[in-house]
Amino acid sequence: MIRSARLLLRAYESADAQSLVALLGDFEVARWLARVPHPYTIDDADAWIELSKSEARRSFAITRDGALVGGIGLGRRPDGAYELGYWIGRRFHRNGYAEEASRKLLQVAFADWRVARVVVSALPDNAPSLALIAKLGFRPIGLQPFYVPPLRPWPAVIPHFEQTR
Ligand SMILES: CC(C)(COP(=O)(O)OP(=O)(O)OC[C@H]1O[C@@H](n2cnc3c(N)ncnc32)[C@H](O)[C@@H]1OP(=O)(O)O)[C@@H](O)C(=O)NCCC(=O)NCCS
Repeated sequence: MIRSARLLLRAYESADAQSLVALLGDFEVARWLARVPHPYTIDDADAWIELSKSEARRSFAITRDGALVGGIGLGRRPDGAYELGYWIGRRFHRNGYAEEASRKLLQVAFADWRVARVVVSALPDNAPSLALIAKLGFRPIGLQPFYVPPLRPWPAVIPHFEQTR
């Protein structure tokens, strides 16, 4: 568990499935995420909660006052780098949650887990995420393929960014 000023980042629990369906079932959130199916069912949520237990993923539910507001994680890629991913439920956007959770997770990853390099990528028209990535201090490293096959038609290459310890 990781605490920031307003948020608790904790492991996903079975009881999160309904909230995941409500928040990730929103295509305006899911369309930007390479690996989120649409429509999003309880089975998809259960499968994700199970998958999130894998140590290689370091996935966290982002909660505030006990309520799920989004998700964040650092997935280990085959090349050894960690890929940052995040989403926030639409009704919770623009409260600074993605920024607060990302800053805290990056701090813990570099300082406590001794992660050497974190990579993040976003679709070229994902203005909110690209602005957040810049605000977090990531450096552009060019257009690269997404590291696992996306579920939806996706550009062959998308903007990638990195931050090192
Ligand atoms: C991208 C996303 C996670 C941002 O979450 P959020 O909690 O609303 O973002 P925050 O409130 O923490 O905003 C932090 C910064 O991000 C940028 N940002 C966030 N939303 C923005 C928007 N709609 N337009 C422009 N910049 C935006 C700004 O730089 C903002 O800082 P500021 O408030 O000082 O301007 C959210 O829009 C989302 O879940 N989108 C769908 C899923 C997604 O795109 N995930 C990332 C895939 S790469």
